[in-house]
Amino acid sequence: MAPSPAEGRPGEPTDQLSTAFLERLKSEPLGEMTVLDAGTGSGRVALALAPLCRAVVGVDRDARAIDEARRSAAAARLSNVRFVVGDIEVEEYAPFKPDLVVAYLCMSDAIAERAGRALRPGQVFAFVALHNDQWKETGRPSRFAYGETGVRRLLKKTGFTVEHLEVEREVKAFASVEEGLAAAIGLQERWKQDGRWFRYVKFLEDGGRTLTRAQLVVKARKA
Ligand SMILES: C[S@@+](CC[C@H](N)C(=O)[O-])C[C@H]1O[C@@H](n2cnc3c(N)ncnc32)[C@H](O)[C@@H]1O
Repeated sequence: MAPSPAEGRPGEPTDQLSTAFLERLKSEPLGEMTVLDAGTGSGRVALALAPLCRAVVGVDRDARAIDEARRSAAAARLSNVRFVVGDIEVEEYAPFKPDLVVAYLCMSDAIAERAGRALRPGQVFAFVALHNDQWKETGRPSRFAYGETGVRRLLKKTGFTVEHLEVEREVKAFASVEEGLAAAIGLQERWKQDGRWFRYVKFLEDGGRTLTRAQLVVKARKA
């Protein structure tokens, strides 16, 4: 299962989309393409791509997020983007007729397998996924995170050649325990529920003074 908004997003919903990700997509002939945005949420990636593409389909299992995405598309008068409620780890992608599949902070083996089955040779699967180093100070990698080796293995298995793979990393450094706690205050409730908070506090009390965010930006082409 891919992450829900409450699990493992590197930042808050206001985070900027990765420039590296968008630039890699823009080198494709998007104007001729139908793009499938798997796990579109409230559609920020689909809405950013729609003006550049022939058509965009955003799919998410969260009906409320899909409603929000539809409202945003209407407000922006975008007529070439549509949003569908669905499970992108169960449904096959061929019915959406995608020329390109993207998945932004919603990545799983099942998604890569479906992209691999739907895309033709030469077509692109591009995604941003949590990296294993995301919040490593909390002592527990996200269930949804990948490392470089694992993601390369998965893409090879699902029929893709990696064209671009980079880790975007931000390591915040703190002068004191208090600063470190303040930096994660918005995550406190979530981390208390999943046990990360106490490990992070111990890390700081033992002298640790960092908090790492890390995500993989990947572009792969169907072999
Ligand atoms: C962290 S959010 C990212 C949303 C969006 N891609 C973005 O970057 O703003 C992950 C999204 O994936 C969706 N998701 C997770 N697993 C899914 C599944 N199996 N089928 C459909 N959507 C899924 C969640 O509902 C959520 O909207």
